[in-house]
Amino acid sequence: MKILLGLLARSSAKVEISHRNSGKFIAGFFVLTLGVSSLEANAFDADSARDMMGVCATCHGEFGQGGSRGEYPRIAGQSEKYLAIQLENFRARKRINFPMFPYTEERDLSDEDIHNISAYLASIKLPTKPPVFKGDEDGLTRLQMMEKVMIISRSEGDIENGSKVYKKECASCHAKDGGGRGSFPMLVGQYTNYLMKQITSYINGERPHDEDDSLGILAKLKDTDIRDILAYLTSIQPQE
Ligand code: HEC
Ligand code: HEC
Repeated sequence: MKILLGLLARSSAKVEISHRNSGKFIAGFFVLTLGVSSLEANAFDADSARDMMGVCATCHGEFGQGGSRGEYPRIAGQSEKYLAIQLENFRARKRINFPMFPYTEERDLSDEDIHNISAYLASIKLPTKPPVFKGDEDGLTRLQMMEKVMIISRSEGDIENGSKVYKKECASCHAKDGGGRGSFPMLVGQYTNYLMKQITSYINGERPHDEDDSLGILAKLKDTDIRDILAYLTSIQPQE
C-alpha cells in the first residue's frame, strides 16, 4: 500500500508538469499498479517513461536526439547504466547542471524514475542515414523522420592522428567503435561541441572523468590530439 500511495503522490505531481495527455497517463497508472508485483529486474514502465520524456523533450528533443546543436546532448541510444549514473550524479549534485536542476530534485526523480527513463532512452535507436520517403507520408511525418536522423557533421582535424590516439588512449573504455558500454558512454554520434565542453570540464576538474585515473588521460593530451580525436569520432559514424 505504501508503494501505491507513493506512486499516487508522484503521479499527481507529474500530471501538473505534463498536462499533455493526462488520459493516457491515468491508463498508464493503472497498468503500473497492476504490474507492481510482477516487475522484473530488467523490465521498465514504458508509459511512465514516455510521460517523463515529455519534460525532457523540451531540451533534449522528442526522440532524445538533443538540441540546439549539442547545447543539449543526445540522450537516446546511450548506455542505460551510464544514463542512470549521470541522473544519480545530477540528483546528488555531484555533476552540476543548472538547466536540469528543477527536474532532478529528489522528490521529482525517484530511483524508479531513473530506472524507467534510462532503460527507455537506451532502447531508442536513431537512424544514422537520411530517410527514404515512400511518397505517402504527410509533412509532419516527414519532418519527424528527418528530426530523428543523427548525423554529426564532420569536424576538422587530422583523422589519422585522431585514430591513433583514440585507439591507444580511449578505446579500452569507450570501445573501438566509440559506442561505449556499461558505465562508459558512447562518444560516436554525440555532438562534438558537447564532447568538447565535457573534456574541458574534466580537464578543469569540474567533472571527474574516471575514478581510477581522474583527469589523467585527458589532461596529458595536446590540444591538437583532442581536436583530432573529435574529428576521428565524426568520421567513424555507422550508416544505418
Ligand atoms: C531545461 C533543459 C533541460 C531539461 C528539461 C532536461 N535536460 Fe538533461 N541536460 C540539459 C543540459 C544543458 C545538459 C548538458 C549539461 C552539460 O553540458 O554538462 C543535460 C545533460 C543530460 C544528461 C547527460 C548526458 C551525458 O551524455 O552525460 C542526461 C542523461 C540528461 N540530461 C537527461 C535528462 C532527462 C532524463 C531529462 C528529463 C527528466 C532531462 N535531461 C531534462 C538540459 C536539460
Ligand atoms: C579508464 C577508462 C576510460 C578511458 C581510458 C577514457 N575514458 Fe572517457 N569516460 C570514462 C568514464 C567512466 C566516463 C563517464 C564519467 C562520468 O561519470 O562523468 C567517461 C566520459 C567521457 C566523456 C563524456 C561523455 C558524455 O556523454 O558526457 C568524454 C567526452 C570522454 N570520456 C572522452 C574520452 C577520451 C577522448 C578519451 C581518450 C583520450 C577517454 N575518454 C578515455 C572512462 C574512460
